[in-house]
Formats: sequence, structure tokens, C-alpha cells
Amino acid sequence: EAPDALPRDLQGRRVVVSAGGTAEPLDPVRTLGNRSSGRQGYALARVAAQRGAHVTLVAGSTAALDPPAAVEVVRVGTTEEMRTAVLDAGKGADVVVMAAAVADFRPQSVAGFKIKKGDTEPDAIRLTRNPDILAELVAERVPGRLVVGFAAETGDAENDVLSFGRAKLERKGSDFLVVNAVGGRTGHNAFESADNEGWLLGADGSSVQLPMGSKAALAARVWDAVADRLA
Ligand code: CTP
Ligand code: CA
Repeated sequence: EAPDALPRDLQGRRVVVSAGGTAEPLDPVRTLGNRSSGRQGYALARVAAQRGAHVTLVAGSTAALDPPAAVEVVRVGTTEEMRTAVLDAGKGADVVVMAAAVADFRPQSVAGFKIKKGDTEPDAIRLTRNPDILAELVAERVPGRLVVGFAAETGDAENDVLSFGRAKLERKGSDFLVVNAVGGRTGHNAFESADNEGWLLGADGSSVQLPMGSKAALAARVWDAVADRLA
């Protein structure tokens, strides 16, 4: 879709989008990370800019992606760095979208020197909990600011993806939660795929099914809902 075919319904809005994975150091040369490509977050940032928003993209580790045009990019490594950047950029924002895959845990201590192999079995890595950035954004309750979360769910033997999504939205307290259906029956993996499918759940009980499609198409549906709510 050509940019000039898009609505300008985010004109003058300030949006913050996080993308990619956070990586937690273990020693000076090693990290614990995840396989988020950052593509969904980059698509959200690109589409928002095309629709007139002032966009700050807080990017963790990603595939080799071209930075979107007319978007301010802040690169971060750890969850703590992402937290600082998101909360800072989020201060004057109309909406913050947490599309990043934030590490739930980090190594309790970071070795000052490269860990050596030695001759014996390795020590276990002790982990500690990371701050929940989305929870902090929600707890701040800045009037007029919307907070959007993302969740990748597979469902399990008893619960489907949608019911996990609803429970998570209630627990998280965000205005919207985008639930991506990953793995499961189709074996579809949203992390490494160009396409996504799922639901857009609203705190008001609304739910919009997001058909399998490009990450740009999914981004457009998210901004439709956000622009509606901001209007
Ligand atoms: N998130 C966050 N900070 C964290 C963990 C997650 O801001 N430390 C955000 C993610 O960016 C996403 C949302 O919270 O927008 C949901 O992440 P998810 O991993 O699905 O939720 P968790 O509460 O961590 O639950 P779990 O991993 O156990 O399913
Ligand atoms: Ca998590």
C-alpha cells in the first residue's frame, strides 16, 4: 500500500513502540536472549509514521532490519535499558505499544570476566526476575495515554489461545492486548514468520479477529483501533 493511500489519523500523535528481544549479559561475551525478529514492532512503527505519528522505536536485538523512515530509533540491549528508554519516551506519548519480547529473567550475577570451560561440570545459572515494563506503564496510569501489550500464546490441553489472551489482558490491565497464535496445530511460528494471526482484545471486552496476514496489515488493524479510541 502506498503511504499516500493511508489515513492520516495519527497526525500529531506521539507514539512509542518497543520491538525485538532484550538480551541479558552472563559475562562480557555472552547473553541470554530470545529469537524475536523485531519485525512486528518495526511494522507498527513504520505504519504509525506513515499515518502521521511522531514515532520513537525502542529496539532491542532484531534481525537485520532497515530502520523505518521518519522514525526516531533508540537501540537498547538489556531489559533495564529498554525500561529506561520506554518510560522516558513514554512520558509525553499518546500511546505506548510493547511489541518487544522482554526477557522475564536475567542472570542473578554477571561475571566480570569471560567464564572459562575448565575441566569440571559447569555451574547452574541462577536467574532473577526482570521488571515488567508493561505493568509499570499501566501502574503509572497517565491520563489519556493508551497502553498496548502483545502476547504470543500456543494454548495448551485445556485452554485455547483466546482464553489465555483474555486472562492475560485482565492480569496486565492494558487498554489493548494483541494475542498472536503461535505454534500449536498449524506449527506456525510468528517469531520467524513474515505473517501473523490472532486477536486484538480491548479492555472494554471487545475482540477483533486478526486474519493471517502481513505484519504491516496487523499493524494497520492495531492503529485503526488505537486511532478510534484516541479520537
Ligand atoms: N512485558 C514487559 N516486561 C516484561 C515482560 C513482558 O513489558 N518483563 C510485556 C511484553 O512486551 C508484552 C506483554 O508484556 O507486551 C506480555 O508479555 P508476555 O511475555 O506474554 O507476558 P508475561 O506476563 O511475561 O507472561 P508469560 O511470559 O508467563 O506468558
Ligand atoms: Ca514473558
